[in-house]
Amino acid sequence: MSVINQIAEALEGKSIVEQLTFLATAYPNQVSFSTSFGIEDQAITHFIFSNDLPIRVFTLDTGRNFQETYSTWNKTLMRYSKTIEVFYPNTEGVEKLVREKGPNSFYDSVENRKECCYIRKVEPLGRALKGQQIWITGIRAEQSPNRQDMSNLEWDAAHELIKFHPIFDWTYDQVRAFVSSNGIPYNPLHDKGFVSIGCAPCTRAIAAGEDFRAGRWWWEDASKKECGLHITTNEINEQLELEEQINN
Ligand code: ADX
Ligand code: SF4
Repeated sequence: MSVINQIAEALEGKSIVEQLTFLATAYPNQVSFSTSFGIEDQAITHFIFSNDLPIRVFTLDTGRNFQETYSTWNKTLMRYSKTIEVFYPNTEGVEKLVREKGPNSFYDSVENRKECCYIRKVEPLGRALKGQQIWITGIRAEQSPNRQDMSNLEWDAAHELIKFHPIFDWTYDQVRAFVSSNGIPYNPLHDKGFVSIGCAPCTRAIAAGEDFRAGRWWWEDASKKECGLHITTNEINEQLELEEQINN
């Protein structure tokens, strides 16, 4: 039986806290949760921090976040008094990008947008996940057709580790209800029509009936809308080519 199947079997029938505890015990110091302070991540942060689970929590600060995101980060620190690690983009990479293409190059083409996402998120993510065996995220199936095809436990060939999405099957309403009933701090933009929140210049509110991710990179074709953090095995080559172009 593969390791993934063994873990899946072990997680079966357990509560989220039990699942996270199992992983943290099986892989001591090698389980990390990434948070962007979106509402899903706040629910998971609550599970980890309020139960004192030995799971490292980190965020990638792109430098282009909403002020509301920084406020949520701050409120989370005050509420739980726990450490949230932070990874920043490589200084020289950002300086070169902005010097050569200006501060808003991402609006000009998908290539430019992916370049900015690579420099500000993907490269720091690689550093954040170094040496880790389990990566926990707030991904939910309902967020996009792409994500519906994923599983709550999967192999990430790009980072060579196992990814676990503890609230994969939750609906948005379920997440909101959980956050509200537990008094968990959340990004106030969620009350203004923002559902999926990324960087400020690349995120807008959505109207009733629009897709969940319609407010992310809204000027792009829907099929291009992943930033490179969560890539499938098929997309690894494309990512490697991008990395090579940026480094040359
Ligand atoms: S993205 O690929 O479009 O940017 P999305 O915003 O849906 O991702 O978030 C999915 C999950 O990716 C989050 O629950 C979180 O685990 C992780 N993630 C996204 N952005 C960040 C970030 N800036 N820092 C840390 N984790 C992040
Ligand atoms: Fe750059 Fe926008 Fe990607 Fe943020 S979401 S890293 S600002 S392109």
